[in-house]
Amino acid sequence: MDFLEIKGGKKLDGEIDISGAKNAALPLLACTILFENELNITNLPKVADILTFLKLLENLGSKYELKDTTLKINSSHITKTVAKYDIVRKMRASILTLGPLLARFGYCEVSLPGGCAIGQRPIDLHLKALEMMGATIEIKQGYVIATAKDGLKGTTVIFDKITVTGSENIIMAAALAKGSTKIINVAKEPEVVQLCEVLRECGVEIDGIGSNELHIKGTNQKLLNSKDIKVIPDRIEAGTYLCAGAITNSKITLNRVNHVHLVSVILKLQEMGFDFDISEDSITIKPASKMVHTNIATTEYPGFPTDMQAQFMALCTQVQGTSVIEERLFENRFMHVSELQRMGADIKLNKNIATVKGECILNGADVMATDLRASSALVLAALVANGTTNVHRIYHLDRGYENLEGKLQKLGADIKRVSS
Ligand code: EPZ
Repeated sequence: MDFLEIKGGKKLDGEIDISGAKNAALPLLACTILFENELNITNLPKVADILTFLKLLENLGSKYELKDTTLKINSSHITKTVAKYDIVRKMRASILTLGPLLARFGYCEVSLPGGCAIGQRPIDLHLKALEMMGATIEIKQGYVIATAKDGLKGTTVIFDKITVTGSENIIMAAALAKGSTKIINVAKEPEVVQLCEVLRECGVEIDGIGSNELHIKGTNQKLLNSKDIKVIPDRIEAGTYLCAGAITNSKITLNRVNHVHLVSVILKLQEMGFDFDISEDSITIKPASKMVHTNIATTEYPGFPTDMQAQFMALCTQVQGTSVIEERLFENRFMHVSELQRMGADIKLNKNIATVKGECILNGADVMATDLRASSALVLAALVANGTTNVHRIYHLDRGYENLEGKLQKLGADIKRVSS
């Protein structure tokens, strides 16, 4: 299995391009199920999850052509409505086929995604909302069997908890429902906003985009006509590289980013002593004269993102003082802690709160990736560790980071992918 070999201690320099956002691209692929014609989607990230989702859609009957970061896809001839376990278990985001398939066909079977390293990852809120729209939901042999023989009906949906893919599923379901749907306590992440903007440009009346309450007038199962779509930049990939610049206290520039999507991350880094030059589509992070500790509590957008928690924990091992990190969204998102401790980090856990001692000397080691963002935290720690670190199970990284070692090499890191 491939692993990344990283020799720590090098400063970074230079600039890289940020790829399209995985978590924006996935719902956009799912929403092709709602269209009667071919869609042209550009700025797709070249990551494993995108290929997995395309394979799932192909199994359903979609036809597509992917050239570099540009996709031509036509899901109008879909004939199957079963999203099989063997793909869904590999990628939880497959659950995003549930809303569109049910809205279009009035029936579908989607495997329960199951949990993952960071938590149970239930989908009860997705299912409850679809039932409120008139669906009958049955769980049988690990599959969600959803039926709405007269199509879904517009209604008022209130999410007890903010759920990103839950919101995306119901937005897509409401787009083809009969009548209007009000969604209260809806997620406001940039990827949810882009999905709404694309649907609105393609003929769905949507009000409240970017707020926590959406009003969607459904087309009553009339399929949509597409416009060209460009995937927004990946704010988490960008945040990860800002942490690479921060942890090595270097000056680096990220191009093709949307700094507005990174406000909470940039403010946190400024609080820790780092400075920035920000332009229309680029961010330059500059060295801190003194890197100081901080306190973090993860929350929904526009708050501090849970997907940046692991990366900041690695950074906090290097700053002056002790930092406190509270993970509020997932019950088990500290899998990176034990691996960071093996490199010498001094981190104490108390339920969902981590206390991270700063100015810690990290030593290279063989470490194991467990989930996408935890893996990137290990890479960041390796950049400043003494000696060599080998990060194993990097298929986790390949799911969500395009050419991570190539981008870090371009910034001057001593990192290479080793096939063993
Ligand atoms: C999305 O996952 C992202 N994935 C995750 O990114 C991200 O960490 C997460 O949102 C939070 O921002 C994609 O967009 C593909 P949630 P999602 O539903 O939608 C609970 C990455 O690294 N909940 O917003 O699955 C849930 O347990 C990935 O790219 C229910 O209780 O997350 C969690 O505590 C990791 N019932 C909270 O809500 C439900 O029906 C937020 O989960 C749904 C969710």
